[in-house]
Amino acid sequence: MTAARIVFPPLSYVGWGALEHLVPEVKRLGAKHILVITDPALEKIGLVEQVTSPLRQEGYSVHVYTDVVPEPPLETGEKAVAFVRDGEFDLVIGVGGGSAMDLAKLAAVLAVHEGSVADYLNLTGTRTLEKKGLPKILIPTTSGTGSEVTNISVLSLETTKDVVTHDYLLADVAIVDPQLTVSVPPRVTAATGIDALTHAVEAYVSVNASPTSDGLAIAAMRLISRSLRKAVENGTDKQARTDMANGSYLAGLAFFNAGVAGVHALAYPLGGQFHIAHGESNAVLLPYVMGYIRQSCTKRMADILNALGGNSSFWSEEEASYRCVEELERIVADVGIPKTLGGFGIPESALESLTKDATQQKRLLARSPMPLLESDIRAIYQAAFAGTIMEPNKG
Ligand SMILES: [Fe+2]
Repeated sequence: MTAARIVFPPLSYVGWGALEHLVPEVKRLGAKHILVITDPALEKIGLVEQVTSPLRQEGYSVHVYTDVVPEPPLETGEKAVAFVRDGEFDLVIGVGGGSAMDLAKLAAVLAVHEGSVADYLNLTGTRTLEKKGLPKILIPTTSGTGSEVTNISVLSLETTKDVVTHDYLLADVAIVDPQLTVSVPPRVTAATGIDALTHAVEAYVSVNASPTSDGLAIAAMRLISRSLRKAVENGTDKQARTDMANGSYLAGLAFFNAGVAGVHALAYPLGGQFHIAHGESNAVLLPYVMGYIRQSCTKRMADILNALGGNSSFWSEEEASYRCVEELERIVADVGIPKTLGGFGIPESALESLTKDATQQKRLLARSPMPLLESDIRAIYQAAFAGTIMEPNKG
């Protein structure tokens, strides 16, 4: 037996109105000069002001940095790091989706290190992080990425993605306030929500799952499955938004401690090669990957069916696991995500390049309950082009 390594960020506020804890926490951290890293669209709609106004009223100097793009490329990370190194900041606040929060973590830590971001990449880097860096507060404005609780910063490379990861990247404080997600449009609510669901599902079947991550993942699946459709249909549904914020937070903790696997590994090249948003890449692939690996984890798939609102006791474990895949397909379809890769305009001629890039994601693939070799990955992409769930022995 091996002991599970469990890491949580030191402090979180989760729930409607959580943002009121921002000023007291900034005070506690002893900051004076604050850098807010955020998405330009969020500044435009006035959302960032909800964070900056109370701070400015208290006399803090606040600089808002908006050179943030979705699925940020390495150069965007290098620029953010250069900016924070040039400034005299003593606190970094990330406000936004995964991109803004990932850049905030990265900039806060690399502010006190030498070298480029590329030097610290997981796959190709040569340097190790040695200091915690500036304190950081992370404030998600979507319910999905879980970035506020993880120690990972994801960066896009030419055709795929890599990460900088270390516990130094963990937030000092995570503030998860569903009120900030009310204006998120339906398509983004759907994609980020399925991303959160994918985190919980992949954590639950991960080879690194533990009783702790299992509890987090199951609780996340219950909240997300009962509320995602409602949040997509009516963004102002307070209960649905609150469930999604809690579900996304729990799913983040689950996957941070157990890892994500095949869905994310195959999704990364869709982002890298075709700029499909992270949540949508996962959403389209979720039923295909889970259908393919189903036979390696039927008991766990039956548990997932129950967490999604089904009842596995009506069926054999095998049958319940099939129904679990069907339920995942149904949720993805109900929130309006295209069913096939063709639905995103991805040509079938991309099959080999997608397969090649996905095989590079060894860190993720290693957590799959069923080993996914190159031929398996190709078969899953083929299934996702064809719109048919396949199994290895039928493929
Ligand atoms: Fe994700």
